[in-house]
Amino acid sequence: MRLGVFDSGIGGEAIARALRDAFPGAEILSANDRAGLPYGDKPPPEIIRRANAAIRPLLDARCDIIVLACNTATAVAIDTLRALHPAQKFIGIEPMLKPAAALTRSGVVAVCATRATLSSARYRRLLETHAGNLRVLEPDCSDWASLIENNRLNRARLRDTIETVCREGADVIVLGCTHYHWIKKNISALAAGRARVIEPSGAIARRVRELLATSP
Ligand code: DGL
Repeated sequence: MRLGVFDSGIGGEAIARALRDAFPGAEILSANDRAGLPYGDKPPPEIIRRANAAIRPLLDARCDIIVLACNTATAVAIDTLRALHPAQKFIGIEPMLKPAAALTRSGVVAVCATRATLSSARYRRLLETHAGNLRVLEPDCSDWASLIENNRLNRARLRDTIETVCREGADVIVLGCTHYHWIKKNISALAAGRARVIEPSGAIARRVRELLATSP
């Protein structure tokens, strides 16, 4: 089995690592677009164009499944990529609003994601479907992906952001950008005893298994 993993940058490595653990026998190919990072502050047509070009090696390698390990590319580009490459199976990644709605007791959840994800129609639909009864906080994380990519995380600002969402009552924090998986431990430590931090690597591995099981 050959799995392709795409992200603008190191977010994809977090997902590739989880897939390697879940499928030790699989060949896992990664592609990224570091020159185009961050996707989160780019207009949708540019994200679509860049993602479509950057997945070319994965298409050429005939991956059984391409995982768009990027919430931003999923939110903005997955419909177009599926239409452009109808024979290719894609799995996308989206902010985990449904699990967050099931977990929250306070009715307040925080979604940490890029601007492009938060302003996408796909994310709006997720909100309408799963978060109608919730208060959803969307803290400004607009430079997090670049800072994480360059190993320059601003710890003081991260602490302020997590303090603010916890003070406002969030008891679930959704990591809606794969770059943030690399700082999950930091966020969990800052929110300890107040909010759970959730991300979708386990769900993606399960989805890969399902899709393979139903493939001819
Ligand atoms: N890792 C990407 C995501 O999951 C975003 C990073 C970027 O802005 O390029 O949304």
